[in-house]
Amino acid sequence: MIDQEGLPTGEHKARLMQHLETLIAFIGDSALDDDLQARLNMEFGPQTLAFQEMKNLLRIGIAEKWACYKIIDGPDYCRGRLGVVSDGVHDFVIESAKLKDVKGNFHTHPLGEINMIQPVDADAQFCGAGEGWKVFAPGTSHYPTVSGGLAPSSSFCRKGRSSTMTNIDQVLDRPAKRVLAFSGSVRRESWNSLLLNIAADALRSHGVSVRGISLRDYALPIYDGDLEESRGVPQSVLELRGLIREHDGLLVACPEYNGSVTPLLKNALDWCSRPCDGLGGLEPFQLKPVLIVGTSIGPFGALRAISHLRAIMSKMGAAVVPEDLALPNAQAAFRSGALADPDMEEVVKALTWRLAEQLPGPRKDRS
Ligand SMILES: Cc1cc2nc3c(=O)[nH]c(=O)nc-3n(C[C@H](O)[C@H](O)[C@H](O)COP(=O)(O)O)c2cc1C
Repeated sequence: MIDQEGLPTGEHKARLMQHLETLIAFIGDSALDDDLQARLNMEFGPQTLAFQEMKNLLRIGIAEKWACYKIIDGPDYCRGRLGVVSDGVHDFVIESAKLKDVKGNFHTHPLGEINMIQPVDADAQFCGAGEGWKVFAPGTSHYPTVSGGLAPSSSFCRKGRSSTMTNIDQVLDRPAKRVLAFSGSVRRESWNSLLLNIAADALRSHGVSVRGISLRDYALPIYDGDLEESRGVPQSVLELRGLIREHDGLLVACPEYNGSVTPLLKNALDWCSRPCDGLGGLEPFQLKPVLIVGTSIGPFGALRAISHLRAIMSKMGAAVVPEDLALPNAQAAFRSGALADPDMEEVVKALTWRLAEQLPGPRKDRS
């Protein structure tokens, strides 16, 4: 009944599958609600031999590498599919997961999710619940969060028959979406780089993987057509362009010099728009979601530069998020490395969420 084709297996997996088949029969076509949660905890809860044996088998599965075998974000956040049930009556994807003090990727359960929580550390909790069964009703969303230690779990997702399946696959199987972040200032005490870091952290809190780079590390010469013709596109441009290409979106901090973008930023974008690596110049930017934030010491907070950068990047084919942040009076806007105004933190959270929700799935050609 549980289809395991193409999935890893090992000596003890069949025994766990027997337990899971019993459970699936018990769940039947019950609604995924509080009543089912109570019945599962009553009949198959931590006080039962079945629960304790399943808990043990999952640990063995981790050692035998058929459970929690995919690293999502380091050793403390792993997942692994155990099987799929699609027999006309039941419709579940069964996953194993191991989380230790992590906040996992934000996702929605369009048709609900059932979780069996099996803490290793006595105080560990999964979304506020200790050892036992937790049912998420259809339409609920969450960051799967483990606090207080290590808690492996098994989950059953109702997968539906249409696009829902794709959504669940994206959440469970694929790595987090990735954003490249850079600032148009490489000054050591740059306000824009500070704002960039704050926005990058907010983006991470939405489950996005963010890589911050400094344009200083690319030491780009000023663009010169003769230089390009005689020596070709510099290696550092190929590297930067490659990074832009392989990320799902961009987060850019935009300082303002004389009412426009900094030469450092414009020069980097100009170089990266040159045709090379066998691709059209603007290929890495096509429809790429971009969020622009900026700050200046003046009362307009880099507003003019941001509008120029929006025009430049739109011309290059990027999908610039309609909202942006122009933070005025930079010297007063930060306190101890954070935003001084808590309301502004909420603005940054909301803005970065706009970028997160526009990110497409990871590129198919990513290694
Ligand atoms: C050449 C130059 C031109 C500037 N022009 C403006 C400007 O037009 N508007 C503004 O608000 N600030 C302007 N500033 C001040 C910058 O906002 C300030 O230097 C800021 O700290 C730069 O960003 P950073 O801290 O990220 O390096 C200018 C600074 C420089 C060096």
